[in-house]
Amino acid sequence: KSVKIFAPATVANLSCGFDVLGCCLDTVGDEMKISLTNSNEVKITKIDGANLPLETHKNVAGVAVEALLASYEKKVGVDIEIYKKIKAGSGIGSSAASSAGAVWAVNHLLENPFTAQELVQFAMEGEKLASGNAHADNVAPALLGGFTLVRSYEPLDVIKLHTPKDLVMTVIHPQIEVKTSDSRSIIKHNVSLKQAIQQWGNVGGLVTGLFTEDYDLIGRSLQDVIIEPLRSILIPEFDTVKKEVIAKGALGCGISGSGPSIFALSKGEQTANIVAEAIQEVYSKTGLDYDIHVSKIN
Ligand code: HSE
Repeated sequence: KSVKIFAPATVANLSCGFDVLGCCLDTVGDEMKISLTNSNEVKITKIDGANLPLETHKNVAGVAVEALLASYEKKVGVDIEIYKKIKAGSGIGSSAASSAGAVWAVNHLLENPFTAQELVQFAMEGEKLASGNAHADNVAPALLGGFTLVRSYEPLDVIKLHTPKDLVMTVIHPQIEVKTSDSRSIIKHNVSLKQAIQQWGNVGGLVTGLFTEDYDLIGRSLQDVIIEPLRSILIPEFDTVKKEVIAKGALGCGISGSGPSIFALSKGEQTANIVAEAIQEVYSKTGLDYDIHVSKIN
């Protein structure tokens, strides 16, 4: 028994929601083929498009599937083929796509013994391997679709939010690699009460804006006073890109996950495309290679 799947890219944090907010892109992602076998072993049989480890315990998909099988009552084997399109260290959930895709596919082949919440927990093991931290803000939207909120990690409580129909994401990925582990190491572990007040005000505002489809409120809430000021120095032309895309009508703009990708949310595809052009113009002057994606959220 086998299944071929699309494993979506995701944008985590969404400015104010470090480690708790994320959303799933509709058109950017990897492909995977997952098969059940009689071998009683999890094997990574093929990786195309990236230089990633084939050893099960060093591969995020392998580790996530082993976590799932450890909670499954019968013995089964799994073969995993990964066709990477999302580059590692891009900030659009490359490791999450593999972990989430693999556990989703195995659960599907086993006829859904696990809940979405449980799948998030298994996929988080892959994130732990990739970045040293079991954050769920990429794997949750990859598994549940749309926008998600991790209300709590202990116990895990993931909530699917509403997706306003006209929201469109523009993401630029400069071709430099920023490891999530490095980008986490520069974050301060204490925040001031003033920063916390601003940040949780924005998280509440963003969630409300999504549910009420209040695009202005979404835009006002896409602010990060804690992480972005520290991490943005890792990203070429971040401030210029942000200024330009807001001038062109984007609702908001920030670092995608741990970077180096930059995301901008717009109302409508037309604005999202204008925003993409504005980013391209800034980046064409840097001499850096980059990918740019415009995608619905689904
Ligand atoms: N919340 C994580 C971080 C996402 O910002 O480190 C990594 O993609």
